[in-house]
Amino acid sequence: MRKSRNNGFILIVDDNPTNLSVLCAALNSEGFRFRVAVDGESAIAQAERNQPELILLDVQMPGIDGFETCRRLKANPVTENIPIIFTTALADTESKTKGFSLGAVDYIPKPFAQEEVIARVRVHLQLKQLTESLEQQVSDRTKALQQAQVQLVQQEKLSTLGELIAGIGHEINNPINFISSNIPPLEEYISGVTKLLLLYEQEYPNPTAKITTAIKDLDLSFVLEDMGKILNSLHLGSERIQNLSNSLRTFCRSDSDTKIFADLHQGLDSTLMILQHRLKANGDRPRIEVIKSYGVLPEVSCYIGQMNQVFMNILANAIDALDEAITLGKMSNLIPQIKIATEIYSEQLVVIRIADNGIGIPERLKKRLFEPLFTTKTVGKGTGLGLSIAYEIVVEKHKGVLDVNSQPGLGTEFIIRIPT
Ligand SMILES: Nc1ncnc2c1ncn2[C@@H]1O[C@H](COP(=O)(O)OP(=O)(O)OP(=O)(O)O)[C@@H](O)[C@H]1O
Ligand SMILES: [Mg+2]
Repeated sequence: MRKSRNNGFILIVDDNPTNLSVLCAALNSEGFRFRVAVDGESAIAQAERNQPELILLDVQMPGIDGFETCRRLKANPVTENIPIIFTTALADTESKTKGFSLGAVDYIPKPFAQEEVIARVRVHLQLKQLTESLEQQVSDRTKALQQAQVQLVQQEKLSTLGELIAGIGHEINNPINFISSNIPPLEEYISGVTKLLLLYEQEYPNPTAKITTAIKDLDLSFVLEDMGKILNSLHLGSERIQNLSNSLRTFCRSDSDTKIFADLHQGLDSTLMILQHRLKANGDRPRIEVIKSYGVLPEVSCYIGQMNQVFMNILANAIDALDEAITLGKMSNLIPQIKIATEIYSEQLVVIRIADNGIGIPERLKKRLFEPLFTTKTVGKGTGLGLSIAYEIVVEKHKGVLDVNSQPGLGTEFIIRIPT
């Protein structure tokens, strides 16, 4: 005998005791669970409180009639999906059509034939279950598709962007080597020429008028002093470009399908280097302070290019959160900070914490953060993919854990745990 599923029940709405007892007896005989309501308003209240699987609804009742009851049930998001079968003595086509146009799924004429009631109830319960399982399947498939899409986007992003950046890193490398390797001999030559000039000055303390004028026009002593400074800044500048080029290449280390042992601190540092321009002071806020407290970490077997992408996404979000806090005027006298801490936990787990003192995340949004396409940022600013990609890389690819702690208004901390 079929019982209704999951404590589900059928709601019978009728003001006539005889009708009620016939329907109840019919449903009871087949083991269906049911409840009753004797007018439209109490039926609506009951259905809102506890959704039945099906409603058998009388048309003619005191107070609001069955049509109006149906209209209200269909207008309420809580009850709109409950199938409604009208039960009525009105056999005319017009009221049948009206019932269907209000969203009823069927009609049972009075007086009731027990077999017909049972048969129709059974068909509609089955239809409802099939619909629900279909909806579930659609939602499962949609999720799977979204996941696949994220993976595709991630791979695409990694390969095209990665290749591009690695390419640029490489291309910069040659000319900058060229410049920096020529600085030491240039320094030597200049110092030689300077010495020679000074020697001339010593040996010929009274030069001709022409030479005296040329020395004056050139402002020789200033030029000699400044040349050293210029050389120094050439030195510094080329060193910086060299670091950047190294970082670009480290950041994009191609690690297609095998894990390699890598230094995560180097990954973090090269990511920070690439984000330098976003950490700098701008018209709206002071420079973001980055406070590192790196522990002693072993090299970790990982896909380092992908781990760098995780660092990049989390750090970029932290900068966004600080920018937003400043824009909303919540940090007028606070120094924007990002703290990065690493440690090894029980020799099997590397823990990386990246915390900001930005806008924070409201409790109700926390469980949606890692959903693909979930974003609170404006169109063009965020795609909502950063954290879902990070999650995919940490959890699926590295069998690690990605957690978040946040207090709205105070800041957010992301914790990455990767098995060594
Ligand atoms: N450090 C943080 N502080 C506050 N909110 C955050 C932080 N990190 C993430 N969020 C919230 O999580 C949402 C999802 O982040 P996610 O990185 O997945 O997407 P996005 O940054 O909006 O866009 P995308 O990274 O694709 O450009 C963000 O829109 C933001 O609301
Ligand atoms: Mg992001």
